[in-house]
Parts: sequence; structure tokens; C-alpha cells
Amino acid sequence: AQVVQAEFVKSSVRTEDCPSDGLPEFALVGRSNVGKSSLLNSLVRRKRLALTSKKPGKTQCINHFRINDSWYLVDLPGYGYASAPQELRTDWGKFTKNYFINRSTLVSVFLLIDASIPAKKIDLEYASWLGQNQVPMTLIFTKCDKRKKKKNGGKRPEENVKDFQELICGFFQTVPPWIMTSSVTNQGRDEILLHMAQLRNY
Ligand code: GTP
Ligand code: MG
Repeated sequence: AQVVQAEFVKSSVRTEDCPSDGLPEFALVGRSNVGKSSLLNSLVRRKRLALTSKKPGKTQCINHFRINDSWYLVDLPGYGYASAPQELRTDWGKFTKNYFINRSTLVSVFLLIDASIPAKKIDLEYASWLGQNQVPMTLIFTKCDKRKKKKNGGKRPEENVKDFQELICGFFQTVPPWIMTSSVTNQGRDEILLHMAQLRNY
């Protein structure tokens, strides 16, 4: 399930403009700054294939990366970043909700949740929205390398993960599959790639 080849293909603003070759794809979604682009780089073992930043709001389009010439990883703009100037602010809703509903080659959404902080309302809302719209989803907990900090609620990543899972139980019959990750230590990389390979073969 390893990545032997990865290339940037295109940036699109509308679902209609995305690649039309019919290859299966997986989309990385989550709050701005949660680590979507970093995770993509970790999966493909490249430092700067997808551009990352300390400042939220870095990724602004639907970015397609072709993997092993046979499937796509899709880097999306983050939601929940309200402090950008109006003209730079990504209309996450318009962009991505249309994409989730209409992109027929989308196999599964990978919803990234920051495990270094307590559950955020906006993440619970998006998990719930995806669930209600029957978008297949895997939960990816990011930044599991970070130590607990008082200012972040004083809980370890494992504890934040457990809290989040309990909170979303109400939206789903069963908790979606979930994987703990870190783009710093590459924790979870093989598990994600194996999970994606299994999903492609269904
Ligand atoms: P947008 O494109 O703005 O939506 O953000 P993004 O979700 O793509 O986040 P990005 O990958 O740009 O990472 C944001 C910041 O978090 C960067 O400073 C990364 O170095 C840091 N970061 C990402 N993943 C991890 C991780 O696993 N551990 C730690 N400690 N930091 C991380
Ligand atoms: Mg990004």
C-alpha cells in the first residue's frame, strides 16, 4: 500500500473542474491548521508536495494529487477560520459541500481532528453534517505527538480522542473508523495507506 509516485495534478474551485479520469479519490478535510497538507506530505514521504503554513487558511482550492498513477489524494481548504480578511476567506461551505455531494469518484472523506486540544463544536457539527448526508468518513486524529498543555485543557491526545468519540456517538449508529496520527513522527501513516487500499478494493 506504499506510495511510490505522487504528483500534483491541478487546483480546482468547482467540482466540475476536478479531474475527469474517473480514478478513485480520498479527501482530507478539517479545520484550518489541523494538519491536512502536512498529513498529505507524510503519506507521500515528501516535505513540500502540498504547501503548509503555521498560519491558518493556507490551502484555498481543491488540490488533486495523483498517487501511483491510480488514485488521488485531495487536499481541501480548511473550515472554521474566520479571522481572514473577507476577500481571502474561503467559503468552505460552498466549495466543499458541493464537492462532497456531487463528486462521484469520492470513496471516503478523511475528517481530521486535532487530538492536542479538546473537541470543538465546529468539528462535531461537520462530523454530524457528513453523517447526515451519508458521506463515508474516516476520523483522523492529528498532532498525537503533542504533549498535554494546561492552556489546551490539560488532557493527553488519547483522552481528547476518547472524549470526541463519545460526543459523536449520538450522530452515528456506530463510531466511524478512526486512526491516530502525527505528521512529525509519521505515526499512523501505514495504517492510513492500508485503510485506503482496503476502501479502494471494495
Ligand atoms: P489549511 O491549509 O490552512 O486549512 O491548514 P492545514 O490543515 O493544511 O494545516 P497544515 O498542514 O498547513 O499545518 C498547520 C500547522 O500545524 C503547521 O505549522 C504544521 O507544521 C503543524 N502540524 C501539522 N501536523 C502536525 C503534527 O502532526 N504534529 C505537530 N506537532 N504539528 C503539526
Ligand atoms: Mg492546507
